[in-house]
Amino acid sequence: MSYVDILLEAIWFILPAYIANAVPVVVRGKDAVDRGRKMAGGLPVLGAGKTWEGTISGIAAGGVAGYLQGISSLFPLVPMSIGLGLALGAGAMLGDMAASFLKRRAGLRRGANVFLLDQLDFIIGALATAVLVADVKLAWIVVWLLLTPLLHRLTNVIGYILGLKKVPW
Ligand code: CTP
Ligand code: MG
Repeated sequence: MSYVDILLEAIWFILPAYIANAVPVVVRGKDAVDRGRKMAGGLPVLGAGKTWEGTISGIAAGGVAGYLQGISSLFPLVPMSIGLGLALGAGAMLGDMAASFLKRRAGLRRGANVFLLDQLDFIIGALATAVLVADVKLAWIVVWLLLTPLLHRLTNVIGYILGLKKVPW
C-alpha cells in the first residue's frame, strides 16, 4: 500500500468527524448544553458555544456521512457505516466539549484560542470512540494529527471570511 493510499484512507475514515465538527458552526444553536450553569469561581461549565442543536446536528451529520460513504464504493477497504459515522460524530462532539470544559476551568472565555487543543479536540474525541468500534491504523492517527491543525486553520479562516465565525481561529 502506497503513502498516497494511506493518506486517502485516513481522510476517508475521519470524514464524519470533520463534518460533525463543521456542522454546529453553521447551525448556530441557542439551547446551551450546560443550560447556563456555573461552577467554582462563577465560570460556565461549558459556555454558550456548546449547544444541543449543534451537538445533535453534528452527530446526525456524522451518521449521514458514514451512511453515504458506506454505500459508495470509493474506498471499499475502509468499512464505513451509519454506526461508525454516528460514533465518530459523537466522539468529535465529546472531544470538542471536553476542550471547552478545560478552557472554562482555566478561566478562558468562549472563543479563546488554545493552540493545538482547539485544533485537535474533536480528532482526539473521534479517535477515542473509533478505536472502540473499528480497526484504526496507527498511520491514520499520524495523518490526522499532522493534517488537522493545518486544515482547521484553513477552514476557520474561510468561516471567518464568510461571516460564520467571529474570530479567524
Ligand atoms: N457549536 C454549537 N454546539 C457545539 C459546538 C459548536 O452550537 N457542540 C457552535 C457554536 O455556535 C460555537 C461554534 O459552533 O460558537 C464554534 O464552535 P467552537 O469553536 O467549538 O466554539 P467556541 O465558540 O470557540 O467556544 P469554546 O471557547 O468553548 O471552544
Ligand atoms: Mg473554538
